[in-house]
Amino acid sequence: MNAREDTISQLVEAARAARKNGYAPYSRFSVGAAVRLNDGEIIVGANFENASLGLSLCAETVALAAANARGRFADIDAIAVVGGPISRSDSAENENHVITPCGRCRQILNEAQQLADRPIAIYCASTHGAAIVEHSVTALLPFAFGPNDLGINPNRKS
Ligand code: THU
Repeated sequence: MNAREDTISQLVEAARAARKNGYAPYSRFSVGAAVRLNDGEIIVGANFENASLGLSLCAETVALAAANARGRFADIDAIAVVGGPISRSDSAENENHVITPCGRCRQILNEAQQLADRPIAIYCASTHGAAIVEHSVTALLPFAFGPNDLGINPNRKS
């Protein structure tokens, strides 16, 4: 494994570990996410459901908001996402099945990318198998609505 693969694998493992903390008693579908910052620090998130169902938070959103709470929303280089049924026997899950971020999370990733002013890599990895599929924010959310459409440059401090 080369250094780049090693860095990606470390991020995927962090997402897999976070997935174990997903609070998903309603969907029984647990998701973990791990954000890598430009200094190598990793910040994780797990999905966070509640009885109102529609107010559940995705793992990616939790991880991105946690990076923001640390003052690091502009410093995101990459995110890994891992999701699947809590009990594998519940489904005919292919061990190399990967999920991609939902529409709302893509919008938040676009915000992070605008702030970072460089591409953010999205690694969608399987819960158990070896699959890791890399996507760009632009590929997952083409023609995105963003801060520029509001005439706002979020990098500007004033
Ligand atoms: N979920 C995520 O956390 N991230 C995704 O990319 C897709 C869906 C969560 C939301 C909900 O808790 C469960 O997975 C089933 O939709």
